[in-house]
Amino acid sequence: MKKKIFSGVQPTGNLHLGNYLGAIKNFVTLNNDDENDCIFCVVDLHAITVSQDPTILRENIRETVATFIASGIDPKKSIIFNQSQVSAHSEAAWILSCIARMGWLSRMTQFKEKAGKDKEKASVGLYSYPILMAADILLYDSTHVPVGNDQKQHLELCRDIAQKFNNDYRVDNFFKVPEPLIQKEFSRIMSLKDGSKKMSKSELSDLSRINLTDEKDQILNKIKKAKTDSLPIPSTVKELNSRPEARNLIGIYSSLANLTLENSIQDFTGKNFSEFKEKLSQILIDKIGPISKEIKRLLKDKSYLDKILDDGCKKAENIASAKIKEIHDIVGF
Ligand code: TYM
Repeated sequence: MKKKIFSGVQPTGNLHLGNYLGAIKNFVTLNNDDENDCIFCVVDLHAITVSQDPTILRENIRETVATFIASGIDPKKSIIFNQSQVSAHSEAAWILSCIARMGWLSRMTQFKEKAGKDKEKASVGLYSYPILMAADILLYDSTHVPVGNDQKQHLELCRDIAQKFNNDYRVDNFFKVPEPLIQKEFSRIMSLKDGSKKMSKSELSDLSRINLTDEKDQILNKIKKAKTDSLPIPSTVKELNSRPEARNLIGIYSSLANLTLENSIQDFTGKNFSEFKEKLSQILIDKIGPISKEIKRLLKDKSYLDKILDDGCKKAENIASAKIKEIHDIVGF
């Protein structure tokens, strides 16, 4: 049995190194393995849970597709499509919202973070967003879902929703209960300015993240200004763990170099950060530079990107519409 891989990325602009190392790099590995059937979704319905400019959203959808391809996902092997074009997602989300419990959603830490202090003003969509995410995953009988660490709780909710639906309607194994694929070491890349905050698209300062469209000079500048501490690089991971900014930068280096934290530390023990930062900038320029160039090249060919989405939507529609028909039947419509 082939593994069925599904994951999604919001087209909200500024795709960054956290998205790449936490998720997209793993998508590429999974895409390259013939044992997998992969679907990568541009989740535009999720994007409008916060206000979006329609013209910019449309461009960001294309930019997300360009980023997938520039990173190494092959649209001939994997399905790439945007969520809004397959109506089963919205429909399944409604049906599953009648399965999910208020108490389950109220525990979602990402909603609490995103809604901030004034929860009354957050959109209902922002609150119910994990149900739409469950619909995305369950419509395709996905067995494995590669994500960064911040999506772990949403995946647990998805598993609960699948199990409750199967139990309530006595349809054993109708929804497959998916396994999260979260990397052990580098699944949470932190801000370059604050090692206690996740690297994020919505952070105001651009210096807090490496965008996948950044060029050499921007990378050099951001790494130069990245926060560190005054101590040299330690000799053990244990010591490193108590220094969040240092750990984050060495983690980024290790992930890009495909090394474990332990191995990277051995190379840099006792050295100061200025020396390490030079090496880090170089590997970023080597690995992110070509992706950035390719994204920009692909963005000039809108019809190519639109065609990938069109083809992907047709394939996704075939799978999802068959599943939603079965759901109708089970529910009694
Ligand atoms: P999104 O668009 O916020 O992020 C896309 C992917 O990038 C990962 N990620 C990170 N990983 C490590 N460090 C970081 N600083 C970092 N920031 C983001 C995320 O974990 C994610 O894997 N709800 C999802 C999208 C979604 C989805 C789905 C995912 C919708 N439906 C179905 C999987 C399956 C989201 O908003 O991701």
